[in-house]
Amino acid sequence: MLQLNPDLSDLVSDAAAGLAERFSSKATITAAAPGRVNLIGEHIDYCDGFVMPFAIDRYIVIAGCANGSTQARISTAHSEETVILDLSQLQETGEPIWANYLRGVIRGFQDRGHHIPGFDAFILSSVPGGAGLSSSAALECATATFLEGLLDTVLDTREKALLCQKAEHDFAHVPCGIMDQFASAFGKPNRLVLVDCQTGEPELVPFENPDFTVLISNTMVHHELSDGGYAARRKHTEDGLAILGKASWRDVSNADVEANWEKLGNPINRRARHVVGEIARTIAAAAALARNDFETLGPLMAASHNSLRDDFEVSCKELDTMVGIARTMGRDGGVIGTRMTGGGFGGSTVTLCESRKSAEIAATLATEYEKATGITPQIFASRPSQGAHLVD
Ligand code: GLA
Repeated sequence: MLQLNPDLSDLVSDAAAGLAERFSSKATITAAAPGRVNLIGEHIDYCDGFVMPFAIDRYIVIAGCANGSTQARISTAHSEETVILDLSQLQETGEPIWANYLRGVIRGFQDRGHHIPGFDAFILSSVPGGAGLSSSAALECATATFLEGLLDTVLDTREKALLCQKAEHDFAHVPCGIMDQFASAFGKPNRLVLVDCQTGEPELVPFENPDFTVLISNTMVHHELSDGGYAARRKHTEDGLAILGKASWRDVSNADVEANWEKLGNPINRRARHVVGEIARTIAAAAALARNDFETLGPLMAASHNSLRDDFEVSCKELDTMVGIARTMGRDGGVIGTRMTGGGFGGSTVTLCESRKSAEIAATLATEYEKATGITPQIFASRPSQGAHLVD
């Protein structure tokens, strides 16, 4: 029931084998970048809030080499197709759509004055797509890291994450915040990436107590952030801030939201209540973790989920079902906290639980979820892992 995470070293050798098979090329550069899961701090990275994700041990790997031409030839395990990009031109969006993540990142390097030499690349992934685990940020960060290898240059990590975020904005048309790219770029083993999104400063927070495990439950309901729901939520928060006449959500209190409830109007007042509440919950969660107090996270995660469901309206019935099953097991069953994670509208839940009961909890989540929905979920555990890097 509990899926194992494929070994990164296996992905790396399979990607090299894919490159050899498709292009008869030998991999000289291999980049890996992880997906992420967010413990708490949802839909507030674009509101100057705090987020607390970590890099999961699921990766996108790009194996490749220079090919002496002015073209990129890119292939994946998912299709026989080879995407050709003309690197003598500034990159623009095009077909197939998934290659826009690569085009956007290449464009970011071109805009910084880099000339990108031709290359062959083969891409493999163990990050489930559309699962709210940032497979797109992983692809962007893997591409950026691959280009660093190809160009024999190293970008400042923060600049690299921002370049990748811009690729997502301009080439995937998702007005995302910075959480996903920061988690994928800055992630470290046994560390959470706590980001103050007002200052843009990440802090690596220890998360290494072996008594606790993080389970990720993919509802298998596909989430698509480019279909407008995400952008609409972001717009609500911008409108709310303008109505409140404040420069930053960090300057807004609960009392401000209450006092302006009618003026904000529905649904912006509820969106505002989520933002202010979630910022406070994330600060409280970070403080609790700093004193190794995991139990406090439970009620904070519960309140976060309820707020995302009722006020921010980004949950869905399958996410609520998965959360409901974990809640029913409760603290006595080893569950400390559970909530939806990521952009929502489908995707995954994150469940913090006692390690000794995690296999049992995963089995119950899988069985009960399938009984309730008819869908077989994908459930795996993850520890905080190494962010984007070149593999030797
Ligand atoms: C997506 C976005 C992030 C963040 C989350 C919600 O993953 O890419 O920037 O806004 O949704 O917390």
